[in-house]
Amino acid sequence: SSFALKPRKAFANSSNSYNLLQPQASYKVAVLGAAGGIGQPLSLLIKMSPLVSSLHLYDIANVKGVAADLSHCNTPSEVIDFTGHGELANCLKGVNVVVIPAGVPRKPGMTRDDLFNINAGIVKTLIEAVADNCPDAFIHIISNPVNSTVPIAAEILKQKGVYDPKKLFGVSTLDVVRANTFVAQKKNLKLIDVDVPVVGGHAGITILPLLSKTKPSVSFTDEEIQELTVRIQNAGTEVVEAKAGAGSATLSMAYAAARFVESSLRALDGDGDVYECAYVQSDLTELPFFASRIKLGRDGVEALIPSDLQGLTEYEQKALEALKPELKASIEKGFGFAQKQA
Ligand code: NAD
Ligand code: LMR
Repeated sequence: SSFALKPRKAFANSSNSYNLLQPQASYKVAVLGAAGGIGQPLSLLIKMSPLVSSLHLYDIANVKGVAADLSHCNTPSEVIDFTGHGELANCLKGVNVVVIPAGVPRKPGMTRDDLFNINAGIVKTLIEAVADNCPDAFIHIISNPVNSTVPIAAEILKQKGVYDPKKLFGVSTLDVVRANTFVAQKKNLKLIDVDVPVVGGHAGITILPLLSKTKPSVSFTDEEIQELTVRIQNAGTEVVEAKAGAGSATLSMAYAAARFVESSLRALDGDGDVYECAYVQSDLTELPFFASRIKLGRDGVEALIPSDLQGLTEYEQKALEALKPELKASIEKGFGFAQKQA
């Protein structure tokens, strides 16, 4: 879970180590929305992975130039561009991991749910193509509102008869990345050591950092807990406001998504020690989808980690109960949309 923090030898060795890089595995990854604010830096980071042999970049426009540009990096994977719906099927055939950052981002004053009307339809169309062309792939959904777009994807996959709940993920890695950063800063810890599980969903109060479960074990005052929790919950808005109309988090998101892709590829490759937080189908609470730590394996989610929800502090327990109605409503809104379209 320490993507890019513990450099692998291949990256750390020497200035020309990329020339010497041999592919260490041959996975195919597709990025849908690859010409966008997240898509471009995310594609660059995936291009750096020695586990990837083929990188398929899809968007409705402007993807040819991004692919030409990236293809000049002397790292192992080939880069192939696909433009427009007519090329989507070919983009997806044979792919192991599909990452979806397609869709519109927030502007100041908007909630993630305000993106529902546009992004729900985009995710639906893309998932239909995934179902038809690479139903066995791991599917990473970044498009907001994640709390609803993941249930939409599940429902579409069910309608197509190919839903595998172990392989559908809402990407909530950025919440963990932020929690780790903010806690390390506040408590003067070495970043590389800090790991904070973040559970629930990916919007406002549904984002619940479990600070009491921080590793290494740290003690916080009540004030620190309140301040850190609110900052982690509002970190997306912090970026939206700083960008002042030019979009939302793209670079930190690309970093976080690349970490989740790398973890997925390591799991596919047989590494038995891969844990990440993600928003997945879950029975840890009464809600059908819930973000928590998961163990990743060759077939996707190998296990949820129920112990994270045990022994919560009173603050966390209250926050958990408080987020459930909003998360439930967002899940139902997603299901409702997909069922109406069927
Ligand atoms: P952006 O507008 O810069 O890029 C989006 C890209 O999607 C564009 O290139 C656009 O052409 C493409 N696109 C639009 N419709 C498409 C379709 N039908 N098929 C394929 N591609 C299509 O936006 P961005 O900043 O990259 O953000 C993308 C999404 O990611 C937003 O919904 C944003 O809210 C979300 N996001 C999620 C997280 C998270 O933590 N999960 C973090 C940041 C952003
Ligand atoms: C984030 O958390 O940065 C993303 O969900 C984008 C947003 O709208 O805040």
